[in-house]
Amino acid sequence: MALYAIGDLHLSLTANKSMEVFGPVWENYHARIEEALGVLTEKDTLVLAGDTSWGIDLTEAEADFRFLDRFPGRKLLVKGNHDYWWVTAAKLHRFFEEKGIRTLDILHNNCALYGDWAICGTRGWFLEEDQKPHNAKVLNREVMRLETSLQAAGGRPILCFLHYPPLYQGYECPEILAMLEKYHVRACCYGHLHGPTIKRRMEGRRGETDFSLISADYLGFVPKKICD
Ligand SMILES: [Fe+2]
Ligand SMILES: [Fe+2]
Repeated sequence: MALYAIGDLHLSLTANKSMEVFGPVWENYHARIEEALGVLTEKDTLVLAGDTSWGIDLTEAEADFRFLDRFPGRKLLVKGNHDYWWVTAAKLHRFFEEKGIRTLDILHNNCALYGDWAICGTRGWFLEEDQKPHNAKVLNREVMRLETSLQAAGGRPILCFLHYPPLYQGYECPEILAMLEKYHVRACCYGHLHGPTIKRRMEGRRGETDFSLISADYLGFVPKKICD
């Protein structure tokens, strides 16, 4: 039994938006992901920290969901900024049910249990969002979603998965960091950083929390083992 995590698979089996245009690091990435996910067993959990599928809607994302569903073990999806297919939890559960997709679920205003751990997660907040209008409202909504997820842990030790890094060289999001501190989050894994921006990541311990980047190109498309 193991808990794995990776972000930013950017699967594009239908959407025709292959990441291979971003250079050799993305070459043949679907096949490389397929090989890496071969490690999964029935009792494992894989957290996918956002930007999972380029599908514009559920119909376009279906092939990517089916690709993930072929591997054993539970997959928990966090919303990324490119998950345009994302709908309400009720709609998504109905879609998975209708399509016979049994191993996928989402982390959104909730938490999942893994042994003694609570797995929490949400999209988070990022520097580029500051440029958009109504940003305070959107930030507040994201912080509330994060707190709802952290509260759902019910006092269990927490591993938190965000799409956006709460810490970045030259930037940090105090509201998100305060939440991680308030709930004594043990580890916070995040994605979103690709290519040249990877070097601006912040990793390691800060306060009680271990931060680490888990974007797929950074991990060489091999999910990171978080714990047994
Ligand atoms: Fe991404
Ligand atoms: Fe992203």
